[in-house]
Amino acid sequence: GSTLQAAASERGRYFGTAIAGFRLSDSAYTTIANREFNMITAENEMKIDATEPNRNQFSYAAGDQIVNWARSNGKQVRGHTLAWHSQQPGWMQNLSGSALRSAMLNHVTQVATHYRGQIHSWDVVNEAFQDGSSGARRDSNLQRTGNDWIEAAFRAARAADPNAKLCYNDYNTDDWTHAKTQAVYNLVRDFKARGVPIDCVGFQSHFNSQSPVPSNYQTTLSSFAALGVDVQITELDIEGSGTAQADSYRRVVQACLAVSRCTGISVWGVRDSDSWRASGTPLLFDGSGNKKLAYTSVLDTLNGS
Ligand code: G3I
Repeated sequence: GSTLQAAASERGRYFGTAIAGFRLSDSAYTTIANREFNMITAENEMKIDATEPNRNQFSYAAGDQIVNWARSNGKQVRGHTLAWHSQQPGWMQNLSGSALRSAMLNHVTQVATHYRGQIHSWDVVNEAFQDGSSGARRDSNLQRTGNDWIEAAFRAARAADPNAKLCYNDYNTDDWTHAKTQAVYNLVRDFKARGVPIDCVGFQSHFNSQSPVPSNYQTTLSSFAALGVDVQITELDIEGSGTAQADSYRRVVQACLAVSRCTGISVWGVRDSDSWRASGTPLLFDGSGNKKLAYTSVLDTLNGS
């Protein structure tokens, strides 16, 4: 294949990117995005603060714009995200207990129902575990509604959109030896054992010099896959430049290709200048839209060379 999406398709996988709605008027951006990628994640527009800015008043225009751009260009959509401690609207930040639990479940139900039939996979719950060595749940207003909030969110999502794949998504879960990775693994194992609906696990995979691509990354992906879920790399970016960056990207793609249930890879933005990282060059295209060494490395690896 001569593009990322074509080369990935030949390997039975997708290749995606995050899209920011306000950039869709930039034709240099949309030209690259349309050519290279076939799975689209809204970078911010389907989050809780965007879709329910006031309680029980839903706002879908920004999310719909991205979904419509994707689908009219023949692409699939990853939904991001239904339940998260961050980017909650003010009204939700101020709720607790049973009022918050029912507001969260109503949000999951309403948003998943609005997009029913249009979403390949939903990040139902995002970033629910702590960093560090505890392996504990992250403290949040959602966690304080009771430890079963995650499974309640997954059950509500399944009821609202039975055909979407339902994923748990997190960062710092790439190294198999980390407590956070093991904690997510135990959650998924428990859900599978008890029949709680879960289909996939997303590995955000934001890498930098403090947190490089771990040597056991493939072990992490294959271990989760062995639980009976698909795995996806959902927000890939790797700080750096030149051959070191290109080699890191190659290792990520090789790990996914080596795991049959690794069904796709998405990068978190198109050009370096589109990245959430204020400074830095973590993506596959430079600010002028030129293909970087990292791009060639990813494409060649997908093409098996
Ligand atoms: O839209 C407003 C604008 O009106 C305002 O003037 C401006 C001033 O700060 O803020 C704009 O909103 C910002 C938004 O990005 C759009 O650019 C928010 O402040 C800013 O917080 C938001 O950052 C996003 C971040 O999530 C928030 O948590 C990033 O774009 C987005 O890339 C990032 O994505 C997350 C994933 O959802 C989850 N995993 C980690 C990943 C990277 O942090």
